[in-house]
Amino acid sequence: MNSLNTDYNQIYPDRRPRIMAVDDDEINTAVICALLGEEYDIIPANSGREAFRKLREQLPDLILLDMHMPEMSGHDVIRVLKQHHVYADIPVVFLTADDNTEAEVQGLSEGAEDFIRKPLCKDVAMARINMQLRLNHLQNNLKQEVARQTQIAEKRLESFERMSVQMVTALANTIDAVDSYTNGHSVRVAKYTIMLAERMGYTGDRLTCCQFAALLHDIGKIGVPAEIINKTSKLTDEEYAIIKTHPAIGGNILAGVTEIPDISTGARYHHERYDGKGYPDGLSGEDIPEIARIIGVADAYDAMTSKRSYRGILSQERVREEIERGKGTQHDPYISDIMINLIDEDTEYKMHE
Ligand SMILES: [Fe+2]
Repeated sequence: MNSLNTDYNQIYPDRRPRIMAVDDDEINTAVICALLGEEYDIIPANSGREAFRKLREQLPDLILLDMHMPEMSGHDVIRVLKQHHVYADIPVVFLTADDNTEAEVQGLSEGAEDFIRKPLCKDVAMARINMQLRLNHLQNNLKQEVARQTQIAEKRLESFERMSVQMVTALANTIDAVDSYTNGHSVRVAKYTIMLAERMGYTGDRLTCCQFAALLHDIGKIGVPAEIINKTSKLTDEEYAIIKTHPAIGGNILAGVTEIPDISTGARYHHERYDGKGYPDGLSGEDIPEIARIIGVADAYDAMTSKRSYRGILSQERVREEIERGKGTQHDPYISDIMINLIDEDTEYKMHE
């Protein structure tokens, strides 16, 4: 039995395996102690109740369980064991005098790992017990390894998600740096977009999608000459036409982000109007993708509540009036109402640049 002893040393370096033997017949538990006591620490229990009392004191590595016992039978005991979060993983081996396949099938379906027939043959019992101890040890190792790898994967994912937000924000800041008068515009539009989207029931990945789309909605401005974007005097019709190309340019730039198609959608359609008079495609009503309708309201709000080269921040009352006026013409009326609620709740007008 040297090889088995070596196994124990690997599995239980500081002690011998603990086996609980549950049998209503005291002679049987005494026989188990006599036969197996040299190899294992045996915890005898002469009823299901005594077994549970002793389980609370010390957990065994395996339970030998008699099927036929008064009060709580072996079947009753294993049902309770397998439903218990602490005991469920302890391997159970039924002890049976029956040459009864049906009883064995039932025992296995209840979660027993194996059977040992009574009267016990020491070598057979040890071989089966040791196999279960080894299997259980491997299973526990595997569970620990899966838990460890899952934790590593989750940490990597979290880090990747943080990096994505940081990269997209950096890109948004690059876009805003081109326009010296709208510093921080994209980050603020993203903030208002998230506030609106949350009230519309967006959560998790959908909300992150809105955040990214809002951060990058003006990315097409990179394709518009800086002198036009930064011009402080009135734009000519030609210059205005060039500015109006930025949603389509942005849509094209982001079309390659196929993992999050809404990002491109947000850029392309954020200047569409609910009444169909917007650009680039003149879409109207709910034909305009919802994400673009949300960004549209957030964009208009920030345009009015941030400083421009030709004016300061508008009064909150004026902003509220403008949003109210744009309901159903410039903007989705439902989303405008949510914006108006946000304005009304912001009693100290903290929500501006
Ligand atoms: Fe824009």
